[in-house]
Amino acid sequence: MNHFIFFFLFILISCQNKTNPIFSLNELNFDQFLSYESIKIILFSKTNISEQILKNLQFVATTFQDLKFGVLNIEENQKISNQFNISKTPLLKIFKEKNSFIDYPFDIEITPLVLYLAKIRYSWFTFLNSNEDIERFLWEFPYVSIFFLNELNTNYLNIIENLSKREDLVTFLFGVIVNASSEIKKIWQIKKTPSILFYRHFDDDLIVHYLENFTEKPILEFLVQNFQPVLEELTENNIKEFIEKEKEPVAIASFDYENKYYLMSSFTQLAKYFKNQIKFAWFDINRFPRLGQFFGFKSQETNFIIVESWVNRKFYPFNSERFEKVEEFITKFLNKKLEYNHRSEPETNLDFKDNILKVAYTTWNKSIIENENNVLVLITSKLHQTCQEFQPIFKQLAKFFEKKNNLIFAQIDISQNDLPDNFHYNFLPSIFLFKKNEKNEPIEFKESKNLEELKKFLLKELKEEKEL
Ligand SMILES: *[C@@H]1O[C@H](CO)[C@@H](O)[C@H](O)[C@H]1NC(C)=O
Ligand SMILES: *[C@@H]1O[C@H](CO)[C@@H](O)[C@H](O)[C@H]1NC(C)=O
Ligand SMILES: *[C@@H]1O[C@H](CO)[C@@H](O)[C@H](O)[C@H]1NC(C)=O
Ligand SMILES: *[C@@H]1O[C@H](CO)[C@@H](O)[C@H](O)[C@H]1NC(C)=O
Ligand SMILES: *[C@@H]1O[C@H](CO)[C@@H](O)[C@H](O)[C@H]1NC(C)=O
Ligand SMILES: *[C@@H]1O[C@H](CO)[C@@H](O)[C@H](O)[C@H]1NC(C)=O
Repeated sequence: MNHFIFFFLFILISCQNKTNPIFSLNELNFDQFLSYESIKIILFSKTNISEQILKNLQFVATTFQDLKFGVLNIEENQKISNQFNISKTPLLKIFKEKNSFIDYPFDIEITPLVLYLAKIRYSWFTFLNSNEDIERFLWEFPYVSIFFLNELNTNYLNIIENLSKREDLVTFLFGVIVNASSEIKKIWQIKKTPSILFYRHFDDDLIVHYLENFTEKPILEFLVQNFQPVLEELTENNIKEFIEKEKEPVAIASFDYENKYYLMSSFTQLAKYFKNQIKFAWFDINRFPRLGQFFGFKSQETNFIIVESWVNRKFYPFNSERFEKVEEFITKFLNKKLEYNHRSEPETNLDFKDNILKVAYTTWNKSIIENENNVLVLITSKLHQTCQEFQPIFKQLAKFFEKKNNLIFAQIDISQNDLPDNFHYNFLPSIFLFKKNEKNEPIEFKESKNLEELKKFLLKELKEEKEL
């Protein structure tokens, strides 16, 4: 019974406010202990177990508040001892689950045991030991953070674990190196610990950040701040918001990211080079082929385009994987030396159908401005759902006004044609009336786009004209 009393005392003595108790196990409570959800550490011992080992175990238990620790005397619990075939003691078994355990292979001393348990307990990040570990690790992921700690502080580890579980940081990889040698610190220029070695893959940016205050908030702020890439990533989900937000020109590249991700880093270099002059964005054309269609990209791989204006779809395409050429192209654009080739459907594709005249960029002047009639122009796009839904109404309207009021109906498809530089519209579809003697001041139809409102608008506008 000796050791029982000893245990009892031991737990009492070390009962400070943050003690993690070591359970005294026997055949009655053993199964229940194994049923705890957390990782369980069991010391199999004989009656004459050394006090030092127990002290070490208690210290480790206090370090890992969320693990369960127990001691089992094999001399008094022969059944369990036989079940696990225990021959030599003291033996430490680590149970990840009820029926799965590993034997701790070293002497029961504090430092190696803490490190060993930390590696099992914290599976959300990686423990690194050597400089080779660090170098390999830095190349594994787009964003990597290595925490340099001077001690295995489980509070710190819990914070790092919380960060590694965050959904908004899934592109980050977290590593921890404890008590790094002065040699390693010198290589990475770590002057103080705790600190973060932060690495951004694309632009090869390496930052050392000292953590005066190891709490979640300042670390998160640092990570988010440096996460801001020089390149914005476009997706089919964020493109709309991006277009609404971006009023300045943007240089956009598409990549087949899976096979040619390395082009990203050249593109990122360019983005850094032109920082503050033009904004950069990219998208993975494999994942978002519809974005490729939207920009009119011909290749399923690398494409490049400068968007000067979304409203007028003023796009400057340039297809080359040679980034020195792209650099030249952007420079020309910024110096306004880039000639813009207006998009226009060939006139052979245009026909007069359903009383509606089809207009292209090159025929705009002839069909609308120089036309002697009043012209009602529909700005539309065959890629735009609402435009397609409106098309039958426009047809009906054209039919209604057929050969009346000197009125001609026209439409231009902006997915294939540019509009004149001085002409602007805000929404799709848009309708403008070019009155015959006022071709420089078209009137925009702003009411809801139904047949009645359109008729009302036209009758009113064209009647007033007659009275003049
Ligand atoms: C405990 O006793 C065994 C013999 O029963 C002995 O071999 C072992 O060295 C002792 N251990 C300690 C820590 O005294
Ligand atoms: C028990 O362990 C000994 C050596 O440690 C081994 O020879 C023996 O096969 C084991 N028996 C069982 C049932 O695992
Ligand atoms: C980790 O996150 C959990 C849940 O959000 C929180 O309760 C806990 O305090 C956090 N731990 C640390 C060390 O910040
Ligand atoms: C840190 O490492 C040094 C040698 O590199 C060693 O002497 C010291 O005990 C270690 N400290 C801890 C807490 O591991
Ligand atoms: C550390 O940061 C926390 C917020 O994350 C703040 O409440 C606390 O005052 C800071 N401590 C120091 C010493 O700056
Ligand atoms: C249309 O006419 C305007 C004004 O005369 C002229 O500046 C513009 O170049 C013409 N557009 C085309 C495509 O010819």
